Amino acid sequence: MKNGSTLQLEIQKAPTSKIDSVDFDKLVFGNVFTDHMMVCDFKNGEWQKPKVMPYGPLELEPSARVFHYGQAVFEGMKAFKDDDDQVWLFRPEENFNRLNKSSKRLAIPEFPTSMFFEGLEALLNLDRDWIKKGFGNSLYIRPFVIATEAGVSASPSKEYKFLIICSPAQAYYSGDVRVVFAEQFSRAANGGVGYAKAAGNYGAQFYPTNLAKEEGYQQIIWTDANTHEFLEEAGTMNIFFRVGDKLLTAPISDRILDGVTRKSVIQLAEDNGINVEVRPVAVKEIVDAAKKGELKEIFGSGTAATINPVKGFGYKGEKFELEDQEDSYARLFKNKLMEIQYNKTEDKFGWRHLVKE
Ligand code: COI
Repeated sequence: MKNGSTLQLEIQKAPTSKIDSVDFDKLVFGNVFTDHMMVCDFKNGEWQKPKVMPYGPLELEPSARVFHYGQAVFEGMKAFKDDDDQVWLFRPEENFNRLNKSSKRLAIPEFPTSMFFEGLEALLNLDRDWIKKGFGNSLYIRPFVIATEAGVSASPSKEYKFLIICSPAQAYYSGDVRVVFAEQFSRAANGGVGYAKAAGNYGAQFYPTNLAKEEGYQQIIWTDANTHEFLEEAGTMNIFFRVGDKLLTAPISDRILDGVTRKSVIQLAEDNGINVEVRPVAVKEIVDAAKKGELKEIFGSGTAATINPVKGFGYKGEKFELEDQEDSYARLFKNKLMEIQYNKTEDKFGWRHLVKE
């Protein structure tokens, strides 16, 4: 994970902490940030010395490319604290690799492994007190890269800023989640940027999601842009369907995010003898299964959302409700994941990474 590097990291500690002003029992996802952040600039063709410094505003030229062409990518990771105050990351190399995959697609220079992990661990060590113990508590970690070069010519920036900011988190969705299957709008197209965590992928969902909210749905399940016949992902989550005792999810493609929680769920399902089919999932088969009473569960998976059950869905004006299952797969996977993430069980897949003090 560390690449054996002897990186020189500049550390500037915040003179005071904001932690006492935060009510950790009433967190709204992504609203509060810790005392420090990591920052690293790219200029003259290389990444400069990274810094961990007090969290605070950035100064950017109004003409910086990020504002005009959306040249920006991000990641979402989480740190967890166990009963012995040890801090763990969940499959961090997956997020690091995906960040660079996203960067490549957006013509952003890749970020070096040693800088990422040494900077992240130094940041987490400074802000350790912000990570609370107990199932459901975590520190959401948001690495991102933005194009900072001044000038509005439509070409890749020659300067970038890489940052990591951290936010103490509990649940992403505060209430029940109902979804609508997309019939008109699309999230991603073949050959596009759907697989990347490009900022624009998320901004483009806000308008159709607002329309869905007016109809009583919290999220849209995006369908393929060509035919709208196949269910792809929910935008903030990958999506799973349980028909009978079989679990269905769409295969990864250049339209769908290769979710870390998604691939962990597939592995956990296989490990628990659950039949998982990773293949195109037709809207029609899910609607038919719901009508026949064979659709037992829908749930989303994502770093922020973890495993989020879906209570109901809408399609072409029809509404379907799902009954709570006593042997819920969503609950099973959520518990199994948490046991690994909070160091409550053996980590037979090697997913946990200790943040050394
Ligand atoms: C994450 O799960 O980290 C995501 O990227 C979802 C986010 C847009 C809140």
